[in-house]
Amino acid sequence: KKQRKVRNFSIIAHIDHGKSTLADRILENTQTVTKREMKEQLLDGMDLERERGITIKLNAVQLSYTSKSGEEFIFHLIDTPGHVDFTYEVSRSLAACEGAILIVDAAQGIEAQTLANVYLALENELEIIPVINKIDLPSADPERVKKELEDVLGIDGDEVILASAKANIGIEDILERITEVVPEPAGDSEAPLKALIFDSLYDSYRGAISYVCVKEGTIKVGDKIQMMSSGKQFEVNEVGVFTPKALAKNELTVGDVGYITASIKNVGDTQVGDTITLANRPADEALPGYRKLNPMVFCGLYPVDSNDYNDLREALERLELNDSSLQYEPETSQALGFGFRCGFLGLLHMEIIQERIEREFNINLITTAPSVIFEVEKTNGEVTTVDNPSKMPDPQVIQEIREPYVKATIMVPNDYVGAVMEIAQKKRGQFIDMQYLDDIRVNVIYHIPLSEIVYDFFDQLKSHTKGYASFDYELIGYQPSQLVKMDILLNGDTIDALSFIVHRDFSYDRGKQIVDKMKELIPRQQFEVPVQAAIGNKIVARSTIKAVRKDVTAKLYGGDISRKRKLLEKQKEGKKRMKMVGSVEVPQEAFMAVLQMG
Ligand code: GTP
Repeated sequence: KKQRKVRNFSIIAHIDHGKSTLADRILENTQTVTKREMKEQLLDGMDLERERGITIKLNAVQLSYTSKSGEEFIFHLIDTPGHVDFTYEVSRSLAACEGAILIVDAAQGIEAQTLANVYLALENELEIIPVINKIDLPSADPERVKKELEDVLGIDGDEVILASAKANIGIEDILERITEVVPEPAGDSEAPLKALIFDSLYDSYRGAISYVCVKEGTIKVGDKIQMMSSGKQFEVNEVGVFTPKALAKNELTVGDVGYITASIKNVGDTQVGDTITLANRPADEALPGYRKLNPMVFCGLYPVDSNDYNDLREALERLELNDSSLQYEPETSQALGFGFRCGFLGLLHMEIIQERIEREFNINLITTAPSVIFEVEKTNGEVTTVDNPSKMPDPQVIQEIREPYVKATIMVPNDYVGAVMEIAQKKRGQFIDMQYLDDIRVNVIYHIPLSEIVYDFFDQLKSHTKGYASFDYELIGYQPSQLVKMDILLNGDTIDALSFIVHRDFSYDRGKQIVDKMKELIPRQQFEVPVQAAIGNKIVARSTIKAVRKDVTAKLYGGDISRKRKLLEKQKEGKKRMKMVGSVEVPQEAFMAVLQMG
């Protein structure tokens, strides 16, 4: 049998350093796809992804490369998502690789997620190929960045490849280097099958599709496979690789990265991290899986039109099939009616899901402010978790509330260190450490409550550092905090969907801010509406939404019909995202007002 030469690798980078562009160049330079096909960025499939410019789902492309010495190689390029919310998915795809191309922007240098990704690569024992990209930029300073790579990551400067994915410089060097330094996947093609599921996806025609990396053995069409976690068995209908289109093959063997379909109706049977083996010749033990990732951010999703409730449930069911980190369960709110409490990996994940529900399923949503999970120890010793502020037990029965903390790594030029510290302090951060990366850039480390990060931390960071700060965080566990539940009353009624948890020391300020914000966001009604913020029975702040005086259109110049129509249309547009809460009409923004508190 002909000896195959296989190289499996990923590209890791901080967001925007050029991962997708380099992947495109690699596909082009290996003639995997033509320039014309390249127009659509192939590795980024979904519309939303293209618009936001971020990569969400993992993909694995097979390509062939003939080295300068004439040897033929099979490469599998495994895509990794770039955003901090998806760190977990990065580590999943890295488990299918032996090497990683580390891209660093020649003008920006090392950033927070560069470090985070390098650590993940090292944990997975990957060979790292350092590349400085965008050397064509006038602001590029490859020498400084090279020094940074040496000082911060201990990378040998002579090994760094200078490249421009845009101008097609250095791509051949990268391809050659892959053949030289990335090890051949170990494993025996005759051994009992061990295929690692690193992603799975639901297709309405073919059932669940498992993306796998074959670590041991061989799998063929017609084989009876067994899931090692559940023992469930299925018959393989198709195996194949992505080129980048799906291409059916007779078999997948050691080192191959591709897909398996086996008429699996329930995507839950193809759990990411599980090992697939053969039923008649099973492997002794499974490959090390992945730790299960728990959602960190929760919010309520409610249809604006309560008739859309069933459609919303279907939408969530469908999205969950391809997104095992999405969680949801039915929830009822006095104010908003029937909806769902949903759990997400982070804010971006939450936004993406909301947007997909609205666009792909055409459902108008009211979303409540995101919350983290609190751990509540009651006076009777019982410990519960609370993911919805309105469900926080009465203060009398609470012994202690604990909240999740993260270790935040913030990288900035030293001019902005003061600004960063001020924000972190305001967000209840505990200063941990500060390291100079070079004579300009500083790595600042804080422990900060996750709930503060979930609010507008990153936005504030960006706006106070002229966009220079980069940011990464990891969960470090729970710590006790002096937290209280703040209720919001409209027209004298507590609106459960508006309750939030706040630190006692900030409660009066935030109460004041929120009632003022509500007054601004909730349109005038036919009657005067008092807005109150309360902790328990105690009102801590109040404002009043005055009653409407005149018809909105009355003030317009008489006769200008088109303008009048525009205004009415605009109002109608706004209406879509309004919800009657008791006797008051509340717009979507009001539910998110707490996110804008400083
Ligand atoms: P995410 O998918 O969001 O993580 O970003 P990415 O790392 O994939 O970056 P992407 O390839 O989308 O590139 C980000 C921006 O940098 C785009 O506007 C690219 O056109 C640009 N870019 C990428 N490589 C180069 C390069 O070599 N030179 C220059 N001048 N621009 C580049």
